[in-house]
Amino acid sequence: MPLCLVTGSSGLIGSEAVRHFAAQGLDVIGLDNNLRMTFFGADADTRWNRDQLSSEVKNFTHLDLDIRDRDGVDALFRQHGKAIALVIHAAAQPSHDWAARDPVMDFTVNANGTLHLLQSLRDHSPDAVFVFCSTNKVYGDTPNRLPLVEQETRWEIDPSHAYAPGIPETMSIDQSTHSLFGASKAAADLLVQEFGRYFGLRTGAFRGGCLTGPRHSGTMLHGFLSYLMRCVATGKPYTVYGYKGKQVRDNIHAADLISAFDHFWRAPRAGEVYNIGGGRFSNCSMAEAITLCEEIAGRKGNITHAEANRIGDHIWYVSDLAKFQGHYPAWKLSYNVPAILEEIHAQNIERWRREG
Ligand SMILES: NC(=O)c1ccc[n+]([C@@H]2O[C@H](COP(=O)([O-])OP(=O)(O)OC[C@H]3O[C@@H](n4cnc5c(N)ncnc54)[C@H](O)[C@@H]3O)[C@@H](O)[C@H]2O)c1
Repeated sequence: MPLCLVTGSSGLIGSEAVRHFAAQGLDVIGLDNNLRMTFFGADADTRWNRDQLSSEVKNFTHLDLDIRDRDGVDALFRQHGKAIALVIHAAAQPSHDWAARDPVMDFTVNANGTLHLLQSLRDHSPDAVFVFCSTNKVYGDTPNRLPLVEQETRWEIDPSHAYAPGIPETMSIDQSTHSLFGASKAAADLLVQEFGRYFGLRTGAFRGGCLTGPRHSGTMLHGFLSYLMRCVATGKPYTVYGYKGKQVRDNIHAADLISAFDHFWRAPRAGEVYNIGGGRFSNCSMAEAITLCEEIAGRKGNITHAEANRIGDHIWYVSDLAKFQGHYPAWKLSYNVPAILEEIHAQNIERWRREG
């Protein structure tokens, strides 16, 4: 039976990947040591998700392995070798703001961890397809130099600008403020490309906008739609930082992202880079997201606005999906922001009430 290795398997993207590829008939091994809870505290504990996978997915094995453990990672690849058909690499320190607290740990997880996986892939499983969850933060704050227009509920790009359909992969990643997180992810993103170009491995770096869905263990520092919905639905306070709450994000449901990974796996390329997100189909400003959450939860949020923005935070980011859609024309987005929020609310409200 071909094998799929998923790193960060108890997280949002990893857990969706486990379910999807197990349903395709692959055996799935998930690596996750719940580092998310160490980063962000109790709200971010992912054990509930790991336990659901273990009880609901038959051909799934969980390993408490840290991707920083070079020998442990290598032993795993050596053990399974050519049986590994696909690696979905979703383990990370995923927060912009957290990275500044401990740049060494951030870089060790994001960059060194990725290097360990790539080198073991090259040594033991060179025919496998490797999918990396990169980020739009590799572009740093360059998107903030686009000509933006303030509207009633959001910032928008000047409609005559070439990037009006979204930001393409050709945007420079140089000479901008990335945050330490953006820098460690850019290092990993370049390694993923290089192992494709230099060694011919079938690697793809997917530069995500906001990735979201009901299996996010949302917290103040990461997982904004999930955490915002949790706060509005349970009455917890939520703070919006800067840009008058009109900053725009494109949001992609984990299932739509995994469907893109599936397309890449079935017709892989070497060293590719794609911008991937909700694009023009699924995006919202903070203010628009708050209104939607309040409508769905049927109550007012306890929202405060702080004037200062987060360092390097994007004012407007919408992904241009044209390159990926050009390579994989059968791929389609199925969730927009209201559908995503409805599902986050419906699937979590009982757990949030229990947990308080
Ligand atoms: N969520 C987003 O909005 C977003 C946007 C762009 C890119 N990404 C990227 O997508 C990927 C998945 O994001 P997510 O939202 O699912 O994050 P997540 O935090 O929900 O999942 C990541 C999982 O990795 C695990 N992990 C962290 N460090 C580990 C280590 N050293 N060894 C083993 N496991 C470890 C965590 O415990 C967590 O369960 C990350 O690479 C992230 O940078 C996310």
